[in-house]
Amino acid sequence: MLNKITAEEMSQVFSRALQHKLIQEQDTAVIFYDLSRLTARINNLVEVFPKSALHAIAVKTNPLTAILKKINALGVGLEVASFPELRLAEKAGFSPAQIVFDSPAKTRSELEYALKRGIYLNADSFQELDRIAQLQAKQLSNSVIGIRINPQVGTGHIESMSVGGEYSKFGVPLQLNRQRLIDAFLKYDWLKGVHLHIGSQGCAPQLLVNGIRTVLNFVNEINEGLQRYQQNRRVEIIDIGGGLPVSYYKDEPAITMQAYQRLIQVSCPALFEGDFKIITEFGRSIYGNVGWVASRVEYVKESEHKSTALIHVGADLFLRECYNPNDWHHDISLVDQSGRLKQVDEKDYAIAGPLCFGGDMLEKNLRLPNIETGDYVFIHDSGANTLSLWSRHNSRQVPKVIGYYENGIQFEILKEREDVDKLWEFWS
Ligand SMILES: Cc1ncc(COP(=O)(O)O)c(C=O)c1O
Repeated sequence: MLNKITAEEMSQVFSRALQHKLIQEQDTAVIFYDLSRLTARINNLVEVFPKSALHAIAVKTNPLTAILKKINALGVGLEVASFPELRLAEKAGFSPAQIVFDSPAKTRSELEYALKRGIYLNADSFQELDRIAQLQAKQLSNSVIGIRINPQVGTGHIESMSVGGEYSKFGVPLQLNRQRLIDAFLKYDWLKGVHLHIGSQGCAPQLLVNGIRTVLNFVNEINEGLQRYQQNRRVEIIDIGGGLPVSYYKDEPAITMQAYQRLIQVSCPALFEGDFKIITEFGRSIYGNVGWVASRVEYVKESEHKSTALIHVGADLFLRECYNPNDWHHDISLVDQSGRLKQVDEKDYAIAGPLCFGGDMLEKNLRLPNIETGDYVFIHDSGANTLSLWSRHNSRQVPKVIGYYENGIQFEILKEREDVDKLWEFWS
């Protein structure tokens, strides 16, 4: 249940969805989520870390409200990186203690709201900490508050996804601010946690662990300072962020959550000895491999060297992939109109999206079986940072989202295809 969804499984699920008439003529593209696998991934995360940990799943990777409600029932929390995400979390039924509010640009009124509700907050800067202090002076809140530290341990291989290097727009850079951070902990007795996040995808697990170890070592320094002056106080909470990389290639092995936990434990045993509460903020590693997309092929432009298959998703759903193709990849497979897999590669194809620019391509040159109008292209491992980055270019309608259990024994519509009235509302 923790492995990737194979093309054969997708073909089976798709055929069953067709038999149940869940895919209509207007459903030119459909997003699928394997809810059995999602449940297994979350249960596994909960099992691997100590019981006291709070697993705040990153809403930015998948804000579908039907899924937020489902994962609430599994006992995890949510990491929210904007005020609207915070409101989604509340509406989905998460309690203040299950919500972790990160964002480098929280306004005074957003902070005031979060403090009133007792929501966990990570300040991103000294400036924000001072703002929180002003609000705390008016009325002390139940919120637990941490500060984001950039341990400056280095970057991964996707520059735009890396935030733990020498420079980052996030957090307080550690090298030049050790004393200032210790002073902040001495000054504000409500400051109880530290937060870090090194990057998303492209960061080797060991780099993430180096970040955690650097921050943990620094926490020991802060705690020594606190012990000297305020003997009953110490940093109690370490929020290790997310960032565990996901495999996007068929045979590429992925690090498991167990292996990552072991790496952290070997490097930072103190984190697991009961003195700290751990918060995690995984997103991509929860959702990436449990979602996939099926798009109908509308036309095939044949040519001698390379033909072009025109499909119904492109940079609208795969924003990063189309704008930064060198950094991203999704495996692709092909089925006929009844969902049967086509397996014998015959020709070179470009897989092009429907949007009005030349870079709207999922693949520029890929050997695939013969593609015909009416076939469906499956785009693998599409569950994270796809719909959540939806682009309104050309006003394409957001596709239907279908959840399923046990390879399609049971289906559930998680979100209907957007209709033109909703689109009108968006642009009005
Ligand atoms: C602060 C923070 N936490 C958690 C995450 C989730 O990271 P991932 O989806 O790679 O696990 C992100 C992603 O950008 C983030 O910025």
